[in-house]
Amino acid sequence: MMSLRRCVLCIVTVACSLAMSSVGSDAGERNLSRGKKLYEKYCLACHGPLGRGDGAVRFAPPVADLTSSEVLTKPDSRLLQSIHEGRPNTAMDTWKRVMSEEATRDVLAYILTFPR
Ligand code: HEC
Repeated sequence: MMSLRRCVLCIVTVACSLAMSSVGSDAGERNLSRGKKLYEKYCLACHGPLGRGDGAVRFAPPVADLTSSEVLTKPDSRLLQSIHEGRPNTAMDTWKRVMSEEATRDVLAYILTFPR
């Protein structure tokens, strides 16, 4: 009797955690095609097609190479903040007026797909 009850409990636990993890991954999935569109519209001119900072427009201080370890070692939260708020005293503007937080996360997800 006891072992049957334990078994049922086990199945319920596994089923619950599977349900939870699928909900979690749905919420965590980013819209890369939206990210790509936004990147091409707002970021490519400076950051270049593959994020190397080799876009058409040059600045001092220079445009960040989005594939460099200097940028990639920063936590996502910090990069989201940089995009959202901009970088003081650089050409990197604030994008929060143009992009929602969700859209900003999509752009960051797209940036992270660039070959390193
Ligand atoms: C007008 C040129 C320009 C445009 C357009 C631009 N950036 Fe930047 N970006 C810069 C410059 C310059 C830096 C380097 C800032 C610094 O030295 O801190 C930078 C830095 C960054 C960084 C690194 C921030 C950090 O904390 O190290 C990220 C990420 C980034 N940009 C993302 C974006 C995204 C996403 C867009 C489009 C929504 C965008 N940038 C549009 C010029 C630009």
